[in-house]
Amino acid sequence: MSRAKISLIGGGQIGGNLALLAAQKELGDIKIFDIPNAEGMVKGKALDIMQLRPHDGFDADITGTSDWNDLKGSDVFIVTAGIPRKPGMNREDLLDINLGIMKDVASNIKKVAPNSFVIIVSNPLDAMVYAFYKTSGFKKNMVVGMAGALDSARFRAFIAMEVGCSVQDVTCMVLGGHGDTMVPITRLGTIGGVPIETLVPPDRLEVIVNRTRFAGGEIVKLFGNGSAFYAPAQSAIEMAESFLRDKKRVIPCASLCEGEFGIEGYFIGVPSLIGKGGVEKILEFELSNNEKSALNSTLDAVKQTVKETKL
Ligand code: APR
Repeated sequence: MSRAKISLIGGGQIGGNLALLAAQKELGDIKIFDIPNAEGMVKGKALDIMQLRPHDGFDADITGTSDWNDLKGSDVFIVTAGIPRKPGMNREDLLDINLGIMKDVASNIKKVAPNSFVIIVSNPLDAMVYAFYKTSGFKKNMVVGMAGALDSARFRAFIAMEVGCSVQDVTCMVLGGHGDTMVPITRLGTIGGVPIETLVPPDRLEVIVNRTRFAGGEIVKLFGNGSAFYAPAQSAIEMAESFLRDKKRVIPCASLCEGEFGIEGYFIGVPSLIGKGGVEKILEFELSNNEKSALNSTLDAVKQTVKETKL
C-alpha cells in the first residue's frame, strides 16, 4: 500500500508544526508548500524534520516546494496560507488580502487534486472556508474548517487546570463561529463522566468560558507578534488523521450546514464525524433555548463575515 500524500499550503508557524506532527504520526509523505520567496524556508524546515526522524524511527518523506505540480494527487491539504494582521490594517483589509490568497489556493488545489479532503485553517476562518468551498466547487463533505477542535481543546485545557484533573478526562464541545461569539456547550461537558456544572461553580465556569472565547487573543498579546501555532496544528492534524485512517472521530468543525441546527448554507462549528468520506455526518442534537439564541448570534457574525467575501 502506498503512503498517503499530505500537502501543507503555507509553511509558516502552523505549517511547520503540522509537518512535524504529521511526520511523527506517520500519516504519510508530506509536502510543505509556500510562495517562491519562502521556498528556502520550507525546504529548510523539511530537511530539518527529515534529520529528526532517526531518533524515533518514523518513516515519512518530507519536502518543501513552491511548485503546485509537486502536489499532484495529494489526499489531504491543510491550508494555513495567508498574512497575519499588521498594525494599521483593519479586518476588511485582512479579509481582502487573504481572500485573494484563498481563491488562488482553491483554483490550484482543484487543478492538482480535485478529489482531496481540504482542511482550512487560515483566518478569518468562517469566511475563508466558505470562500474555498465557493471557489473550488468541491463537494461539501470534502471541505472543512478547523476551529471547534481548537476552541474545544482550549476549553478542556482550562477546565483541567481549574479542577486539577487529567485533561484526558475532560470532554466538552465548543460550537459556532471561530470568534468571540463561539458557543461552549458546558451543559454537556463532563469530567470522567461527571457533569462539569456539578464540579465547577457557575462564576468560575463563566470566567473559563470567557477565557476560551479570547484564548487566541491572549496568546497574540503574549507573543506581541504572531498567533498561536502548537495547539492549532495539533487540532488540524487530528482532523487529517481521522480522514486518512477512517477513524470516524466526532470533532467540532466548521462544516457546511444544510438544515442542521436550523442553519442553511453556512459553514459553522458543529459536531462532525470525519472518516474516509470526509465529513460523513453532522451529529445534531436538541439545544436548550439559551444555546439556540447563542448559536443564532454566532450565525449572525458568520453571515456578516461571509457577506464581506461577496461570494
Ligand atoms: N500560497 C502559499 N502560502 C502562502 C501564500 C500563498 N499564496 N501567501 C502567504 N503564504 C504563506 C506565508 O508565506 C507564510 O509562510 O503562509 C504562511 C503563513 O504563515 P505564518 O505567517 O507563520 O502564519 P501562521 O501562524 O502559520 O498562521 C497561519 O492560520 O490560524 C491562522 O490566523 C492564522 O491566518 C493565519 C494562518
